[in-house]
Amino acid sequence: MKRMIIASMLTMLSLTSCAASDITLPQPQKTGGMPLMEALANRQSTREFSNDKLLNEQQLSDLLWAACGFNREDKLTIPTALNKQEITVYVIKPEGAWLYAAKENKLIPVTDEDIREYSASQNFAKKAPLNIAIVSDKELMENDIYAGTDAGAVMQNIYLWCAANGVGTVTRGSFDKEGLAKALNLKPSQRVILVQTVGY
Ligand SMILES: Cc1cc2nc3c(=O)[nH]c(=O)nc-3n(C[C@H](O)[C@H](O)[C@H](O)COP(=O)(O)O)c2cc1C
Repeated sequence: MKRMIIASMLTMLSLTSCAASDITLPQPQKTGGMPLMEALANRQSTREFSNDKLLNEQQLSDLLWAACGFNREDKLTIPTALNKQEITVYVIKPEGAWLYAAKENKLIPVTDEDIREYSASQNFAKKAPLNIAIVSDKELMENDIYAGTDAGAVMQNIYLWCAANGVGTVTRGSFDKEGLAKALNLKPSQRVILVQTVGY
């Protein structure tokens, strides 16, 4: 069932999205890095982001895998209630927005428009070069508490990856909920729970 819903989402996206093609990400680097206790000691929110220094594709791949990638054949870096795997993440940049297809390790274009104005109510985030939208799907997870809990696991994975890699981040509940859902071409059952700004 889960696979069918994700497959139909991918088909829907390919029918409705912009002309741009998928971006295959480099394989995520799953070894090394800062010890967990040091990353926890560094975890914090930041609210100033440069447009001059950007994450490269390897970093983006590592970040997305940490956020919500597959770390086993069919299970994720986050726990999800009842293993519903209802969370998807979207990458929002000035050049457009993409769905992170975790299994395929690629980015599927959703729009080639700059939709950052919907992804933030705070100015620093509207201008930031990278935002990650954390999206839940009521078709897979009806329980709001579990949906929020699962999204929170993605949020903390992003915080820890950023802390371990000297990258700034802040998670945000303040954004245009309806506008962003529309701009991301979400199904009525999907909603954005958090948007997380990431960068230097
Ligand atoms: C669910 C949630 C929503 C948040 N929404 C916002 C937000 O809209 N804007 C913002 O600047 N920070 C937001 N934050 C970040 C908190 O303000 C921040 O975590 C808190 O001040 C503690 O600071 P720290 O993360 O540096 O420890 C949010 C945090 C959480 C967990």
